[in-house]
Amino acid sequence: MCGIVGYIGDQKAVKFLIDGLSKLEYRGYDSAGIAVDCGEEIFIEKAVGRLDALKDKLKDNEPAGVIGIGHTRWATHGRPSDRNAHPHSDCTGNFVVVHNGIIENYMALKEGLISRGHKFLSETDTEVVAHLIEEEYKGDFVAAVRSVLKKIEGSYSLVFMSRKDPDVLICAKQDNPLVVGLGEGENFIASDIPAIISKTRKTYILNDGEIAIVKKNSVEIIDRQGNATDKKIFNVSWNAEAAEKGGYEHFMLKEINEQPKAVRDTMSKRIAKDGSAITMDELNWDEKFLDEINKIYIVACGTAYHAGLVGKFYIEKLARKLVEVDLASEYRYRDPIVDEKTLVMVISQSGETSDTLAALKESKRRGAKTLAITNVVGSSIAREADQVIHTWAGPEIAVASTKAYTTQLILMFMLALYMAQIRKTVSQERERELIDMLKKIPAQISETLSDVDPIKTFARKYGFNEDVFYIGRSLDYSVALEGALKLKEISYIHAEAYASGELKHGTLALIVEGVPVIALATQKSVYEKTLSNIKEVKARDAVVIGIAAAGDTELEKYLDHVIFVPETDELLIPLLTVVPLQLLAYYAAITRGCDVDKPRNLAKSVTVE
Ligand code: AGP
Repeated sequence: MCGIVGYIGDQKAVKFLIDGLSKLEYRGYDSAGIAVDCGEEIFIEKAVGRLDALKDKLKDNEPAGVIGIGHTRWATHGRPSDRNAHPHSDCTGNFVVVHNGIIENYMALKEGLISRGHKFLSETDTEVVAHLIEEEYKGDFVAAVRSVLKKIEGSYSLVFMSRKDPDVLICAKQDNPLVVGLGEGENFIASDIPAIISKTRKTYILNDGEIAIVKKNSVEIIDRQGNATDKKIFNVSWNAEAAEKGGYEHFMLKEINEQPKAVRDTMSKRIAKDGSAITMDELNWDEKFLDEINKIYIVACGTAYHAGLVGKFYIEKLARKLVEVDLASEYRYRDPIVDEKTLVMVISQSGETSDTLAALKESKRRGAKTLAITNVVGSSIAREADQVIHTWAGPEIAVASTKAYTTQLILMFMLALYMAQIRKTVSQERERELIDMLKKIPAQISETLSDVDPIKTFARKYGFNEDVFYIGRSLDYSVALEGALKLKEISYIHAEAYASGELKHGTLALIVEGVPVIALATQKSVYEKTLSNIKEVKARDAVVIGIAAAGDTELEKYLDHVIFVPETDELLIPLLTVVPLQLLAYYAAITRGCDVDKPRNLAKSVTVE
C-alpha cells in the first residue's frame, strides 16, 4: 500500500505534494519522492526514510512548477532506497510515473524492454511502466496510456506526467484506490481522501478500469476503450481524521476490513495461473534442500507466535516435516539444539521485534539456515535472514495485529503446500482441491465481515465481565490463543485460552455460573471431544458462545449463542474463525471505552527486550 498525490493548477505544486504525502504516510513510509514539471525539465527528488528526509532535500531546492506528482512508498519489489523510491522515469526523462500496487508481469515486460535497449535504474516493478509509456507514445498521451494499460497485469493506481503534455496528468485505477479532488482552477489527485480534504470536498472516486484526464480547469473520466463515462461527483462529509481511517472509527477496524484484500494480495503471484501449484520464486527450494533439513523451528512473539503455531500444523500435516514453535524471548536463552541441518523460520509483521531479531542472529551464529516471514520489505529481520518471503498486508497501524495475522496464516499455508509439492507428500488432486479453496478465502472473509451485529450484541452484553475463557482443540486452540490476546490487549479483560482437553486438569475450577466461554468447534477430527468439553462448561452454568462452520446445527443445541463462518477445509478455517474474535475484541474495547488503536502499556513494534 503506498500513497500517491498529484497537482495541476496555478500554485507551486510542491506545496500540495508534500502536504498531501504527509497525510498519506499511514499508507507507506519507507521512502518518498516528487516530480515537478519545470518547463526545461522534469525536476525529480527522492529520499529513503520518512517524509522528513525528502523535505530536508527540498529545503534549498524547491521547484517552482505548477504541475507535479508525488509518492510515499511501502516497498513490495525492491528494498527501500533513493533509487527505488518513486517517481520513476523513462530513458529520456520525458515521462514520469507513480504507482501503488503490484505489476504482476513486470519481469517479462522488463526483459523485453531491456532487449530493446532500455536502461533501468531501479529494482521496482513500477519503472517498467515509465519505459512502456516512452515506447507507446506517438504524440497522443491518452492513447499511449491506454496501450500501456493493455500490456500490464496486476493491481495498480497510476499517475502519469509527460513533458510533452505539460497541461495534463493522466490517472488509471485498477484494484487500488485513486481519487480526483475538484478545485477552482486547480485539481488534485490522491490515493485517499485525507490528502485532499483540506482543499476540496468535491471528488471523483475512480472505479476499476477508469482513466482520469486531469487538467487545471477540467477533469474527464473515460473507460479503457476511450469512451466518456457519466461520473457523479462524490461530496466528502468525513472530517480529516476519519478520512485517514477510510471512514472507519479506528485503524484496527479499518485493518480488520482490509483483510480480504491483504490476503488476496499476499496470495497473488504465488498460485500458478492454472491453479495447479504454489510458486515461491523467492525461495527456489528443491527436494535435496528439504531432505537435508532435520528440524524446523518457527520462532516469533505475540500474534506472530500464534501464526507460527498454525504454521507448525500446516507444515507437519502437509509436508510431513517436524516443526517446533518457540517464543523468541525463550528460544535464545535455552541453548537450542541448532546446527546446519536446522531451518529456523522467524515471523514478524514489523521485522523489527528485538527478541525475534536476536533469536534470528543466534540461529545464524549456530549455523542454521534462516527464513524470515515479514510484512516490511528491507526491515532488519528481512535483511538479516538468508531468505525472506513477504506478506503484502500494507502498513498495519493499530497496535493490535489483525491483517498481519491472517496474511501470515495464508503465507504459512502456501509455504507448507509448496514444501509438500516438492516432497510429493500431497497428491496433485488434493493440492488442486486445497488451492481452489484457498482462492475462495478472501471472499469468505468478506462474508464473515458482513454480519457484525451479533458480535456487537455479545460485546455489549459480556463486555464488562472481568474474565473470559477461550477453548478449542487442534487448530481451534491456536486460534483461541489469538482471540484471547486480542481481547486482553485492547479491552483489558483478563482472557485466557485453553486447549479444551486441559479444562479438567485445573481450569474447570474457574468455570462458574455466568462466566463467558468462547468455544471454537470447527475441527471435524476432534469435534465430538470438543462437544463434550462444551457440555462440561455448560454443566457449570457458563455462558458459551460458539464459533462454528456454517450448517453445524448440532452444536446450536448446546450453546447460548453461535457465530457461523463459511464452510471450507478445516486447515483453512482459522482464516475465518479469527475474524469474529477480532471483532469481538474490538467491540468489547469500544464498550469499555478503551483506546483501541493505542492500548495502554503497549507499542506497535517492540524494539526493546
Ligand atoms: C499483537 O496484536 C501484538 N501487537 C503483539 O503481540 C505483536 O504481534 C508482537 O509484538 C510481534 O510483533 P511483530 O509481528 O512485529 O514481530
